[in-house]
Order: sequence, then structure tokens, then C-alpha cells
Amino acid sequence: MGKSVLIVNGPNLNLLGQREPEIYGSTTLEDIKSLCETSARKRELTISFMQSNHEGDMVDALQKAGSTHDGIIINAAAYTHTSVALMDAIKAVGLPCIEVHLSNVFSRETFRHKSYISLAATGVICGFGAKGYELALDALADIFEQ
Ligand code: DQA
Repeated sequence: MGKSVLIVNGPNLNLLGQREPEIYGSTTLEDIKSLCETSARKRELTISFMQSNHEGDMVDALQKAGSTHDGIIINAAAYTHTSVALMDAIKAVGLPCIEVHLSNVFSRETFRHKSYISLAATGVICGFGAKGYELALDALADIFEQ
């Protein structure tokens, strides 16, 4: 039975494609979802893909993943830099978790250099656009094989 990955996307990522295209490009979240589905199939993984603008909904999804999924990919967007609750939820479920950012947060404003998610994540991928999600699936597939 293949492993299952929850992919969580945070606030404003539903606007990808029209939101600050000079930073985030023209790829939509729907495009990223298709990309993830194709990549997951190749690696014999199944995925659940979600987006929410609400921190509590993201916490609920992460908690539930503890009993329904084997790994997590999260782009917490702006909550990356503020949310102790998301960090605690990732720690609580104890699943391998890859943090993803489309942009290179370290080449941007200093408030983006701090990530609460990183304190709970297995690893971080940033600056590769939508490709980062595929790299994260690769990373989880490797972890599952170990
Ligand atoms: C982001 C980076 C965050 O700083 C920002 O708030 C986002 C998107 C990224 O994918 O590059 O909304 O997570």
C-alpha cells in the first residue's frame, strides 16, 4: 500500500497566478496541484491537497493527518513567520514534514527569514517555485524508503 501525503497551503496561495507575479510567477495553485498529482503517481504516493486562509483550519488538518497520512508538505505562507500553533501541530503529529516556499524567503524582507515551521520541519525547500513541491515529494519518498 502506497504512502499518503498531506499537502497544506496557507493564506493567499489561492491567489497564485495573479498575486505578485514578479515574485510568485504565473503558476496557479491548481497547476501546482496537478504537478503534485503527476509527481506523486510516479512515486506511488497518494496525496491530499488543501489550501486555507484560516490558521485554525490548517491546525485541524495537520492534527487529522496524524491518523490518516504518512507525511506532510506545508507551505504555510505568511503563517510561517507567525504561527506557534502550526509549529506545535506539526510537532504533535510527529510525521516527517517538508516545509516549502515558492520564493527564496532569505533573499526577501528580514521578517521572512524567521520560520516557526522550520523548528518542527524535517527539511526546508525554498526558491524553486512550483518545482519545490516536487522536490518535497522526492524527499518524502526517500524518507519513506529508509
Ligand atoms: C511564501 C513566502 C511567505 O513569506 C509569503 O508570506 C507567502 C508565500 C512562498 O511560498 O514563497 O505567502 O510562503
